[in-house]
Amino acid sequence: MRVSVTVGDIVQYATDAIMVNLFEGLERPGGATAVVDKALKGAISELVAQGEVKGKLGEVTIVHTLGKLPAPRVAVVGLGKQADLTTDVVRRAVAEACRALRRAGVKKAATIVHGAGAGGMGATEAVQAIAEGCLLGLYTFKKYRSKDAEEGEMEELHIVTLDQAGLRSLERACERGSVVAEAVNLARDMINEPSNRMTPTEMAERARDLARTYGLEVTVLEREQMRRKGMGALLGVAQGSQHPPKFIVLRYKGNSGSSSTLGLIGKGITFDSGGISLKPAEGMEEMKDDMSGGAAVMGAIAAIARLKLKLNVTAICAAAENLPSGTAMKPGDVVRAMNGKSIEVVSTDAEGRLTLADALSFAVKSHLSPLVDVATLTGACRVALGQVASGLFTNNQELADKVLKAAARAGERAWQMPMFEEYKEQNKSEVADVKNVGGRFAGAITGAMFLSEFVGDTPWVHLDIAGTAFTDKVSGYKVKGATGVAVRTLVNLAEALAG
Ligand code: BES
Ligand code: MN
Ligand code: ZN
Repeated sequence: MRVSVTVGDIVQYATDAIMVNLFEGLERPGGATAVVDKALKGAISELVAQGEVKGKLGEVTIVHTLGKLPAPRVAVVGLGKQADLTTDVVRRAVAEACRALRRAGVKKAATIVHGAGAGGMGATEAVQAIAEGCLLGLYTFKKYRSKDAEEGEMEELHIVTLDQAGLRSLERACERGSVVAEAVNLARDMINEPSNRMTPTEMAERARDLARTYGLEVTVLEREQMRRKGMGALLGVAQGSQHPPKFIVLRYKGNSGSSSTLGLIGKGITFDSGGISLKPAEGMEEMKDDMSGGAAVMGAIAAIARLKLKLNVTAICAAAENLPSGTAMKPGDVVRAMNGKSIEVVSTDAEGRLTLADALSFAVKSHLSPLVDVATLTGACRVALGQVASGLFTNNQELADKVLKAAARAGERAWQMPMFEEYKEQNKSEVADVKNVGGRFAGAITGAMFLSEFVGDTPWVHLDIAGTAFTDKVSGYKVKGATGVAVRTLVNLAEALAG
């Protein structure tokens, strides 16, 4: 699927289908929709008058033009109430429209710049949102289905503008949207892959592929090197599995004049069975998504490199599998992280924070700053915020505000949770410096408090994506399975830091 910008008149555009829009609650359509309506002898306004078409967000109506226009179909795309229009509304509406056209067998389509004009949005942000909505909404993962494609793929979407002078900047916006959406889909592909395929070794392979393709530096530490660095917490998690852990580091140098490097750290548990503290069987299959944070930081650094953003970024993913076996770590074991702190392992199912303890220690030791980690860390965060928002935790409000802003721009909801020092009490251990479980209450916060033990004073934000990484329903530009959440937030953050 390719999205591009062309100069032309949407009404006269010759392609399989053209897309126009409709706001909810308007008496009659305006703009290009009105022109199309007139050419169709009022077919659209009649549908509106009869109440069959309302312009609600997510509504898509395909009308056949029967020779009255060069394109055989018009898709009337509901944008909701005009006052509620945002870039995320455009992403969602375009995603729904593209899927509806795909169901109708459409290969090539053209669209107006939804959101610009009467929508009042800047044309560049609207174009970027259209590219993102299209590519994210059409995403599928069906490589293991032999009864292939009942639906064909859509091949191209032309975003049509009359603005010859602004073409270059619209093309750049389209390119940016495409790069970012492809990075999200790259993360989704990794996450959706079952854990028998997406092993730590395979994650390292994908990292090497990215490095080769986008000119990143890559280092993969093996078990023995991790041992020498003192990564006892990560090694403890990995010791029950036949698949060796891989400590993946990707580096992008976009600003040789700067001595600072943004550190992106992702949880990379390729399957979380809980280990000896085994999880219940119900829903365990979803735990192939426990490397979503790792996939997100890999997707983000790929996009950052493709966009040539002017900053330095290092992405880290400590990839490991959490399984029970004769060699597995046991509850009550004590492990030591790279920063020297000892940890009592109360539950082997609180493994993400153990791997992140070493990944964050490594990041601090490598002088990365600021740090953002992304992790499917706690069921408690999903209980607190549901599938709607990621939990955000920080030791530095200035950085948190930047991440919150980046998330809002991406349409990826994040909600800040407190890190009052009283919560630290819950992670105190009788036998070690800290324990990996803080009890039943405030589980997402005690998880974050645990991580804070390994970042020192380095400005740091932790995003708990346990509720947002995976979805079981199709909605807007999210489709069933991995959402690829956090990729776009991280790219926006990098862009903001690059200035
Ligand atoms: N990967 C899970 C968290 C999770 C749960 C993500 C549900 C997505 C959906 C994590 O490793 C885990 O098991 N956390 C435990 C921590 C507890 C033992 C302190 C949890 O949330 O139950
Ligand atoms: Mn777990
Ligand atoms: Zn986990």
